[in-house]
Amino acid sequence: MTLVSDLETRLQDAVKAIVPADALDGVTLSVKAAADLRFGDYQSNAAMMLAKKAKMNPRQLAEQIVEKLDSDGVCDVSIAGPGFINFTITAETYSRLAADLLNDERLGVPETGEGHTLVVDFSAPNVAKPMHVGHIRSTIIGDSLGRIGRFLGYTVKTDNHVGDWGTQFGMVIWAWKREVNEEALTADPLTELLRLYRLANDAKKADEAIADECRQELVKLQAGDEENTAIWNRCVEFSKNGLGDIYDRLDVSFDHWLGESFYNDRLAAVVESLEAAGHARDSDGAVCVFSGGELDQKKDPFKINRDGEWEDNPMIVRKRDGGYNYATTDIATIDFREQEWNADTILYVVDQRQSLHFNQLFDIAKRRGCQADLVHVAFGTILGADGTPLKTRSGDLPQLTDVLNDAVTVARKNVEERSRIESNEEKDKLAELIGISAVKFTELSHHRLSDYSFSLEKMVAMEGDTAPYLQYSYVRIRSIFRKLETTPDLSGSLTLTEPAEIHLARMAVRFGEIVPTLLDDYRPNLLANYLLELARAFHSYFEACPVLKSEGDVQKSRLALCELTGQILEKGLGLFGISVPEQM
Ligand code: ARG
Repeated sequence: MTLVSDLETRLQDAVKAIVPADALDGVTLSVKAAADLRFGDYQSNAAMMLAKKAKMNPRQLAEQIVEKLDSDGVCDVSIAGPGFINFTITAETYSRLAADLLNDERLGVPETGEGHTLVVDFSAPNVAKPMHVGHIRSTIIGDSLGRIGRFLGYTVKTDNHVGDWGTQFGMVIWAWKREVNEEALTADPLTELLRLYRLANDAKKADEAIADECRQELVKLQAGDEENTAIWNRCVEFSKNGLGDIYDRLDVSFDHWLGESFYNDRLAAVVESLEAAGHARDSDGAVCVFSGGELDQKKDPFKINRDGEWEDNPMIVRKRDGGYNYATTDIATIDFREQEWNADTILYVVDQRQSLHFNQLFDIAKRRGCQADLVHVAFGTILGADGTPLKTRSGDLPQLTDVLNDAVTVARKNVEERSRIESNEEKDKLAELIGISAVKFTELSHHRLSDYSFSLEKMVAMEGDTAPYLQYSYVRIRSIFRKLETTPDLSGSLTLTEPAEIHLARMAVRFGEIVPTLLDDYRPNLLANYLLELARAFHSYFEACPVLKSEGDVQKSRLALCELTGQILEKGLGLFGISVPEQM
């Protein structure tokens, strides 16, 4: 049980002894970490919440609760302001909890996800177009949510719903037939496929007839034409290899890789069932889903207000030419995930610009009886230094690989200047780790819905709110242990007395409280903030409390705190898919 839930239980027991049971109906008595340590470690507004229902004065109610509250030496309890109940955890409690955490491989994190299947749909680039930096947010956030879910005990299924079907293939096939360079394809598949895609794109912009030819190639592919299918297979194969290299480099993997094409032969039946149930009907030769009419128009994703009039805003599920699209595939995908995987929750980690698509998709899924919780885990845009969406000099979207390479180059320069490591090979390895970690951490330390600008110098810096700062904190801890002559025995009780060491223990205990909240609103940035705060607490502690120069039980306690901090940093960064070096 976490410290905060222990306090909640004590509070609830006290309240039950005072307030009539019916006053407690529908009320959650919660305890929260206090924002300001002057008011204790934790705080509850329970008395204020209950006062009205119990027809009592909040402050008096708080006094009665405190009197009844059995704190069992865990904390001191006091009252502030109109009736806040403050809990100040004692040094003994922190000493005991820190010692417990050292023996707990879960580091205090409860398994809150047991029995629940969580599908994380993320990354999902469009095959034959390389992943660009927009996909970076999805890849990093999605991978982290999967790791967090797994650690919390959920049955997690990560799925890369790659765009391996559709319009772009008509274009790539068109260009492939005219210009494919087999050598380039083997050497750098993603770049060659991008070249073909751009070639077709430019050509069709210049000539409407070519646009038609591209569409024809797609129709042939979808009708099973042998030559086009063979080209498509090779495209997909090459793209997957190219993507695989990037995922390896990012240490990202998927349980499933069911792209859009996987659902192809289910789409006709989906559209039929939509029509049969009256959700979809013909509109100008296309088949469209319209409003179910149950929602207020303002909330109905199938309605749009144009000049003061509410109009239909349908979702096309079969195009006039008979082709199916992104939306149709997504409906089939939900059916599959519910039926085959028993999904309880499905997360879609996708750019917020697709919110209309997901609002419509979720609405129609619910109308068709989908039971799973469907969540669009949306995110904003990555900006360049000038505050506009990040672009290359030629105005294209930057490729993910280039961004990673740039980060590693800057990290390599820092390593050259600052690291004590001698071998060039080791330096290269460290720079690769720092560069990639920096890109990941920068992403995960921002609120996913906010736009953020990409500053390579800042994100690889050793000082500041960065991955290298956290990695350096870890390395510093490891170096303390290297300096010891023997491996110390850290088991048994701890005695913490100095404010800086008590504060570090306080932060360590909060790990188990923070991690389960990360999936409340899918906000890994709360963990990033926490880890930075933990590292800062460690550095203050390390300055205030000599470790190597102390002796006996004091040294043992201090070493134990170092060890615990190191373990939490490693585990916490691990939930971001970031590993820690032994030296920097
Ligand atoms: N391929 C899409 C894109 O790049 C993202 C797909 C997200 N997943 C989904 N089930 N729609 O925009």
